[in-house]
Amino acid sequence: MTLYRFISNNILFKFDPEFIHDCMQVILSNKFAPYLTSLYSTSNKHISKTYIMRKELNSPLALAAGFDKNCAILKALDKLGFGYIVGGTVTINPRPGNLKPRITRYVHNNSMVNSLGFPNLGVEKIIENLSKYDLKTPLIMSISGDSISDITELYKLLSDYCFGFEINISSPNTEKLKYFHDYNNFENLIKSLNEIKSKPYMIKLPRFGISNLDQKSKVIYEKYFQILSDNNVDGLVLSNTFPVEDSILKVGQGGLSGKPLYQNTKHLISFANQFFKNNLDIVASGGISTSDEVRELLKEGASGVQLWTSLIYEGPGLIKRINKELL
Ligand SMILES: Cc1cc2nc3c(=O)[nH]c(=O)nc-3n(C[C@H](O)[C@H](O)[C@H](O)COP(=O)(O)O)c2cc1C
Repeated sequence: MTLYRFISNNILFKFDPEFIHDCMQVILSNKFAPYLTSLYSTSNKHISKTYIMRKELNSPLALAAGFDKNCAILKALDKLGFGYIVGGTVTINPRPGNLKPRITRYVHNNSMVNSLGFPNLGVEKIIENLSKYDLKTPLIMSISGDSISDITELYKLLSDYCFGFEINISSPNTEKLKYFHDYNNFENLIKSLNEIKSKPYMIKLPRFGISNLDQKSKVIYEKYFQILSDNNVDGLVLSNTFPVEDSILKVGQGGLSGKPLYQNTKHLISFANQFFKNNLDIVASGGISTSDEVRELLKEGASGVQLWTSLIYEGPGLIKRINKELL
């Protein structure tokens, strides 16, 4: 057991998960925090180049959306050795999110369930935050909304602050996103984005299963894939959390993340790559916590992977460790 895990099991995990995440945000937004996180930075000897949306990156590991929703701690995260960071998900207007409690941990299998529902400060305040930085790590912005015009507006407003976008239609905690689960609405969103396109973008799709992919899910994914292919979308992120019921959460349901998702993520990547045959950047998200898993996913056809829940269970040294082991 690492020292980080020992401290987490005995102290941090005794408190409410969102309270700890908020405390961490306060600590990491301090101007001295980058000195602290630079203790975990990846050495220049441990660089594994990859390309995502034609951008050369120093590592296939990225920080997944939702960790820094308000782009308030990017300066500290910049030091950790990610190939890129996904900021957001940002919406046009500030949102409080769902009622609390809205995160719960399952320490026995390194997973958690959240029902946050996009709490964020809204694009205006987030642009103020982004304007303060001069980051070394490339940034992708995750954007979402209730309508096509919300999303295209965000795309235009944030274009100067990132090298590309992740369009999030995947969160299980935001009812209005279901609008984009209609194939026509989804294709109209992509066509509207293509009309104003100045930066590449990936689509983050929902997760329809937790273990093997069943036939029904395959048919749904293939319909989405065909739309991405017909409209020259630059990349695909597979996938978000898996919807589950959980009475600890005020709203009674949320999205499961962490270790139990890994096998499904692997099946999804392999299935998507059979369709796209290495002609699209596919990024894996869900349950990834070791260098062996990263290698396995790259072999299945992923161009890169994203981490979230494993950082809570393994700590900030995880990125440095995986980067080193990948060589
Ligand atoms: C607390 C929490 C908040 C999240 N918020 C977002 C979000 O705002 N936007 C998004 O696209 N994904 C969000 N996610 C999903 C993650 O980006 C990731 O896709 C998912 O957790 C699976 O990866 P993991 O098993 O490595 O955590 C969130 C996940 C968690 C645990």
